[in-house]
Amino acid sequence: MRIVVLTGAGISAESGLSTFRDEGGLWEGHDPMTVATPEAFEDDPDLVHRFYDQRRAALGRVRPNAAHEALARLGKALGADLYLVTQNVDDLHERAGSPHVHHMHGRLRAALCQACGTSHDWHEPLSHRPPCPRCLRTTLRPDVVWFGEVPYGMYDIHEALWECDLFVSIGTSGLVYPAAAFVHLAAGRTLELNLEASVGADGFDDVREGPATEIVPRWVDEVLG
Ligand code: OAD
Repeated sequence: MRIVVLTGAGISAESGLSTFRDEGGLWEGHDPMTVATPEAFEDDPDLVHRFYDQRRAALGRVRPNAAHEALARLGKALGADLYLVTQNVDDLHERAGSPHVHHMHGRLRAALCQACGTSHDWHEPLSHRPPCPRCLRTTLRPDVVWFGEVPYGMYDIHEALWECDLFVSIGTSGLVYPAAAFVHLAAGRTLELNLEASVGADGFDDVREGPATEIVPRWVDEVLG
């Protein structure tokens, strides 16, 4: 059985990372348009770097939870039959041991050089404008996808959706496109696992509500039988 799993901020909530739109979410006090657009970066690169530096540093204080671990178990069991795509820019899927993770919105722990186009693994701050290790210019930006930019790997994602037997959406509000439309592109059955039914829940064949650390391991156990 070929499965596509899409994850959002809700899967990392119980690890201690804020979601975007729930109460206390990350955008509170930060208008996303002031930190997560190419225009914002052009206008005030210091602010945008500080914001992402803080988020990158926060990764060092959190750990994967039982939901990330369950998906890693599933990935190891299914191999290429699991296509795991995340909107999250954290690295908790990798640290839980997931073999392949498609980061459609980029990664906090990566820096992209705007001059030579190279993406580097990056764990340090960018605020002090370190040089690109390849071309030595001080043109690095967080390698995350901002509003108005095209998410990574869309062709591969669409192909996986067209060929899947099951699409599972975990911990995402279904408010941000193109990910919100994946449920309509999936060839197979569709299942939502979320704290509460999302705005797009009607589009799914099945919906299960509850905290990710409970409902994701339970679902993985069912699949692995
Ligand atoms: P949101 O904050 O919009 O939605 C988080 C979802 O997770 C909500 O539906 C919550 O009900 C659910 N949730 C919260 N805690 C949960 C828990 N413990 N277990 C299960 N579900 C839980 O986050 P995303 O949908 O990921 O894009 O946001 C999508 C995109 O919007 C982000 O990738 C980001 C943002 O703009 C970019 O930065 C490009």
